[in-house]
Amino acid sequence: MIQDFCQWLYDTAFAEMIRASGYAFPWFESVHVLAITLVLGSIAVVDLRLLGVASLGRPVKQLIREVLPITWVAFAVAVCTGGALFASNAVEYSRNFPFQMKMLLMLLAGINMLVFHFVTYRSVAQWNEGPAIPLPARLAGGLSIAMWVAIVAFGRWIGFTIGF
Ligand code: HEM
Repeated sequence: MIQDFCQWLYDTAFAEMIRASGYAFPWFESVHVLAITLVLGSIAVVDLRLLGVASLGRPVKQLIREVLPITWVAFAVAVCTGGALFASNAVEYSRNFPFQMKMLLMLLAGINMLVFHFVTYRSVAQWNEGPAIPLPARLAGGLSIAMWVAIVAFGRWIGFTIGF
């Protein structure tokens, strides 16, 4: 079923346009990379606060309130441009191991974020200020950084392993 969907996506006029154009793929990939740098940069600011190693003078709630809107907008741009890149060679990307690992890690990073926001963050009033961050929050920050760095590494690896 996934293969049928990828074949359908590959056959769309939009995907055909990206393949035929000399500019569309590099433009989508350039915007994808710019969006990724904003996703990772903003996530790292929050994760390093949760790890208790940076921005210790700023309350956790304030930092999350100010930074996460940037993360979400950049993530939306990364998903849209990534989707366009994917459509241009959908069948091959869906079979590509680095691409599969990148998608799996993004799912796990999403689960880590949900557990943090709906479980760990409930007690934030007790650790909002200062360097004393409880273990579950530090764990969430550490896992998040490690997974996003791995997502970028697998993303970069795609280009070296993809067939056409
Ligand atoms: C915020 C999440 C994402 C991150 C951090 C990320 C990371 C990356 C990186 C680092 C590259 C290599 C860029 C380069 O150096 O040329 C890349 C390429 C790519 N990404 Fe993403 N990506 C994200 C989301 C997505 C999504 C949601 C999709 C698809 C649905 C996707 C599909 C692709 C494709 C198809 C390529 C092109 C590989 C190639 O042929 O060069 N990405 N991504």
